[in-house]
Amino acid sequence: MLSVNELERFYERLVDCQHPIDLFGPLSEDKDKDEAKDALRKLRKEFLQMCHPDRYQNEEARVVHISTESTSLVNKFYVDALTSITTGVYWDRKSFRTTGTPRTTIKTATREYDIYSKIATGSLADVFLADYTEDGSTERVVIKVVSDTDDNDLIRNEQQILRSVRHKSMPTLVESFTTTEGKDASVLRYIDGYDLYALRENPMYKDGVPAEHMCWIFERQLSVLGFAHSNLVIHENIEPGNIIARPSDHNAFLTDFTFSVSNPKDGDYIKCVTPGYSAPEVAKKVQPLPTADIYALGKCMIYLVGGNVDTGAIPAHVDHRIAQFLERLIDPDYKTRPRDAWELHEELVDLRTEVFGKERFKALHI
Ligand SMILES: Nc1ncnc2c1ncn2[C@@H]1O[C@H](COP(=O)(O)OP(=O)(O)OP(=O)(O)O)[C@@H](O)[C@H]1O
Ligand SMILES: [Mg+2]
Repeated sequence: MLSVNELERFYERLVDCQHPIDLFGPLSEDKDKDEAKDALRKLRKEFLQMCHPDRYQNEEARVVHISTESTSLVNKFYVDALTSITTGVYWDRKSFRTTGTPRTTIKTATREYDIYSKIATGSLADVFLADYTEDGSTERVVIKVVSDTDDNDLIRNEQQILRSVRHKSMPTLVESFTTTEGKDASVLRYIDGYDLYALRENPMYKDGVPAEHMCWIFERQLSVLGFAHSNLVIHENIEPGNIIARPSDHNAFLTDFTFSVSNPKDGDYIKCVTPGYSAPEVAKKVQPLPTADIYALGKCMIYLVGGNVDTGAIPAHVDHRIAQFLERLIDPDYKTRPRDAWELHEELVDLRTEVFGKERFKALHI
């Protein structure tokens, strides 16, 4: 069994892995498939012995969470490794080259980025698609450049949070730099997914995304929110543009920590009000509390299933048990609203089984 500190480092290493070979290494010197699979099984067993939640049952919830997440990542990489050994591509780190001709290039102290299209113009920053090549493989990233140097402190706040709190459902900061115009910028690993606005804009989902799909996004969000809160980070700006769902492995990322607060003190209050999504107490400038994030997440899920964000009305196609669960999150009174994202996560896991049967992977068509 690892110490808590070692387990945390192991989890961070897992979060950093992009390909199975990053975790399991070359496995066989001459790329023999049988030898590689034997070595792989042995390594997986060793890793699971190190991180399995059974070993951390008596630890605090945060540690149990890290061990559960680590176990699921080891298993995910194991399955990916088995498949890629069988097809023979295990040893070739997959390249994610962007198609098209780069518009320009940016050189930092450590890397050179080819910049392609602008993919978003946010209220605070412009986001560009880019890639870089390292150790023979190309990785795709986004570069988020602040629009106005007055907002440099906000992007620096996000960088600090992303450096100190690492989670498989949070963006990975590759590096940060300042442009020649003095604008701060973050290089973030590209998330191959869709934010919730993009999902709803799909004509197939004009009446809302089916509740079954909303639920896996919801479950991942409660999981990462519980982790952020256990690290005393309040997100403060949860809205559909800041949740990116990745259908390929049913991960859903909580992004955009520019307005987040780490370890709120007396006198702090939430500075970002998003109509329809911010909890009523936000306008009253109360101290940042986890309950504000829980409210905003509830509203995002109501938006996703095609509900009315202003009234909180949930469409009839959503099972009444799920509708009732969602309604608890948007309790206008933060004193009676649920405050523990992990407790809600546990409830949702059970509710999903009750409503949809045993958990199963159903493809989300986009
Ligand atoms: N790592 C990423 N991978 C893929 N797309 C991303 C990534 N980060 C951000 N985006 C896209 O860029 C958009 C804007 O990013 P972000 O919310 O971080 O910046 P912002 O300037 O604060 O935006 P806004 O003011 O709209 O909230 C997101 O909604 C998302 O579509
Ligand atoms: Mg945003």
